Amino acid sequence: MSATALQLPSSASAPRYFALVPCAGVGERAGLDMPKQYARIGRRSMVAHTLATLLQVTRLQATLVVLAPGDTGFSAHAPGFHGERAWVACCGGATRAASVARGLAELEARGAQAYDWVLVHDAARCLLRAAWVDRLIDACSGDAVGGLLALPVADTLKQASAGRAQQTLDRSEKWAAQTPQMFRLGLLQSALAQVGDSVTDEASAVEALGHAPLLVRGELENFKITWPQELALAERLLRTRDAETIV
Ligand code: C5P
Repeated sequence: MSATALQLPSSASAPRYFALVPCAGVGERAGLDMPKQYARIGRRSMVAHTLATLLQVTRLQATLVVLAPGDTGFSAHAPGFHGERAWVACCGGATRAASVARGLAELEARGAQAYDWVLVHDAARCLLRAAWVDRLIDACSGDAVGGLLALPVADTLKQASAGRAQQTLDRSEKWAAQTPQMFRLGLLQSALAQVGDSVTDEASAVEALGHAPLLVRGELENFKITWPQELALAERLLRTRDAETIV
């Protein structure tokens, strides 16, 4: 449980849900000549798949995409992302955490309150399904801290040095973090302000404040595309999905 109880105004109206998609990275490891979120998978770009799914989640008040300043490619790569619930801001930072922090400030500027929930989701996890987002919301909306989709680690874990296994680590109670990660806007802002830009997910910032985010079982298919071979795998998986859902 959390180290400190979260303070919510007693008169607060029902919290709303917002999605925040950091989309300001370069994705060098994918080895492409463009930001990896714009790589084509089937008939859409990676980010277009991600955003189409988030728009299907009716409980989300809006989805804010955080682009790199000066990004001119987004509208061509995500032509279906428009309407009242589709928000875009070119305010990305030098790290993922900085992009998220700036996105939170943008949400606040557009009227989101400290007690509203924000679901941060990587643009590069483009196989997301609406049902998994709903699962996270159902599990976390009554929780004092919030939580994240994650998977228990099934493989045996090795500590490596120079490409050789040095030691086998205990894998019990180890989970691999995914996104979305869902926290109250105010808590996430304080957490990121306190830990700085180096964290690679929101939960680690929240943990650093002494809170224990809820681990909600994710899906193997919700992997993040980082390397070229994962692009090919995502394409194969998307081809097997219902035509109207994805491709
Ligand atoms: O590089 P990595 O795969 O960890 O990035 C995860 C997500 O964070 C991606 O959607 C990427 O576009 C985003 N990101 C960002 N700003 C950065 C770096 C990454 O929005 N400076």
